[in-house]
Amino acid sequence: MSARPVEARDQKEVRPVTVPRFVEAKRQGRKLSVLTAYDFLWASLLDAAGVDAILVGDSLGMVVQGKASTLPVTLDEMIYHAELVVRAVKRALVVVDLPFLTFQISPAQAVENAGTIIKRTGAAAVKLEGGVTQAATIAALSAADIPVMAHVGLKPQSVLKLGGYKIQRDAERLLADARAAEEAGAFAVVLECIPRGLARDISAALSIPTIGIGAGPDCDGQVLVTQDLLGLTTGHRPKFVKTYANLAEQVTQAVGQYIAEVANGQFPDDDHSHA
Ligand code: KIV
Repeated sequence: MSARPVEARDQKEVRPVTVPRFVEAKRQGRKLSVLTAYDFLWASLLDAAGVDAILVGDSLGMVVQGKASTLPVTLDEMIYHAELVVRAVKRALVVVDLPFLTFQISPAQAVENAGTIIKRTGAAAVKLEGGVTQAATIAALSAADIPVMAHVGLKPQSVLKLGGYKIQRDAERLLADARAAEEAGAFAVVLECIPRGLARDISAALSIPTIGIGAGPDCDGQVLVTQDLLGLTTGHRPKFVKTYANLAEQVTQAVGQYIAEVANGQFPDDDHSHA
């Protein structure tokens, strides 16, 4: 099984990752890499690095806005950030989260709001949290030709009901959720914070790709919050987050040096001044 992205990046001809190509990766045994982005700069960097999909997650409520949960995030905020991301992306599939209370009221509400996201941002797909309980909504979105990624397991929008961000272990319910999402027409499903053996069984049971976060190595792809992966976020870091860099430390060091050099007159020097 190859760890390469769906297709190696070709500077001359960029072949975008479409929904069918994303789904096809599972049949071909290629693992999918997905990361979050909320603006032009980060989306450009991730796209150039070759990720298969960029998720404009409602995690922006916590990562960008500094809020305690994703619940306050609005449709307009998702549209604003998705526009910035889509503007930067040449290759990756851009998926946008439907935030809390923009799809739970009715399938019609979901189609209207998801359609607005697609029309206003140019994104390729939406993501919503839910399986069995959202099957009718996923079916309505599919019928409207709006590609849907489902999200089961730990659903951050259910934090009040769950009483916290906890590992989900009800195997029967989680398999039913994932199956219901596939049967309703979802093209992929995120599995968040579930035991690895269960994620393996669900991945084997579905023909659509499973994208894991805290779900072990046997999913068809992985997703992480980019700022976690790069060591930019502070506070509690869940066990499943691997930090590939410590950018917060580097930023603090670089900015500290800049402040010191401004204070002592070392910056700007001759090399950085016009004659
Ligand atoms: O909002 C988000 O970023 C997500 C991913 C972490 C899966 O839902």
